[in-house]
Amino acid sequence: MASTPRTTPRTPPVTVRASAKVNLALGVGPRSEDGFHPLATVFEAVGIHDVITAGPRDDGAITVTVEGAQADLVPTDETNLACRAAELMRSRWAGPHLGADIHIVKSIPVAGGMAGGSADAAGALLACSVLWDIDTGPGDLHDLAAELGSDVPFALIGGVALGRGRGDRLVPVIFRGTHHWVFATAEEGLSTPGVYRRFDELGGGAGDLVPTALIAALTRGDIDAVAGGLGNDLQDAALDLRPELAGVLEAGIEAGAMAGLISGSGPTVAFLVGGEAIGRSVAKSLRGLPRVSAVKLARGPAQGAQLMAGTLEA
Ligand code: C5P
Repeated sequence: MASTPRTTPRTPPVTVRASAKVNLALGVGPRSEDGFHPLATVFEAVGIHDVITAGPRDDGAITVTVEGAQADLVPTDETNLACRAAELMRSRWAGPHLGADIHIVKSIPVAGGMAGGSADAAGALLACSVLWDIDTGPGDLHDLAAELGSDVPFALIGGVALGRGRGDRLVPVIFRGTHHWVFATAEEGLSTPGVYRRFDELGGGAGDLVPTALIAALTRGDIDAVAGGLGNDLQDAALDLRPELAGVLEAGIEAGAMAGLISGSGPTVAFLVGGEAIGRSVAKSLRGLPRVSAVKLARGPAQGAQLMAGTLEA
């Protein structure tokens, strides 16, 4: 049962950090009647973070402001996924008088296949549940998250997880070691429904088979086998829509990455590298490419959405 939700004018803002993700494997089955595709995917959260703060309002309004390099690409109206998350939480668990000023500091590429919007939604769910003093458990948060989007439940839990269904039915995976990643982002994002549409037009992929060899490699901490097991059924569709990404993939491998793949529905290209030094040198050669807008280094696995220390004090 929920406690009585409340905020007071002195309720301090609540801040949450949420991570980006990369799909180590993304097996996609044929489109089902509901319009979605059944998946067998292995998510890994990586250390590129958005920071989501929810401040109190008692007039029932929910506002969103965004800062960061790509802030102008993010809507600040009710279509913003963080705003929808706050609205959904309020409609199920709180009263209409409660509001929030949500501020997002964006580092995750926008429309980049790294679940940036989903991370913001997960962050807003967690921040608002604390701000409004709602006694939600992990199951409640998961259900709200799954209503908001396929990648939102994983953004709550982080780490490494196998996702089935739409990617929302999650089982954590044991992993050993740290992965070093280099991400090359593109100026213009790709629409996820558009990539799934092209996937259908191209005749589908290998199917939603659980990548057992990859999961075994993660558990053993066998980085070579992890590199060999990376795969994405949406990659051909993303490359068909953005042929120039093939050159980015090639350049990263030539520069010494162990493996490269399109992240989720793209257009971000992800490279697994053997360590930080080689990561810096791969990043350097990618930065010169004409179609690459930014290059980021990150480690994984990272945590899911977490409250940040020091933000709960009055
Ligand atoms: O759930 P989410 O908002 O992330 O999905 C965005 C769109 O991506 C869906 O509307 C659908 O067109 C497509 N999608 C899909 N199969 C999935 C996940 C997403 O076709 N498993």
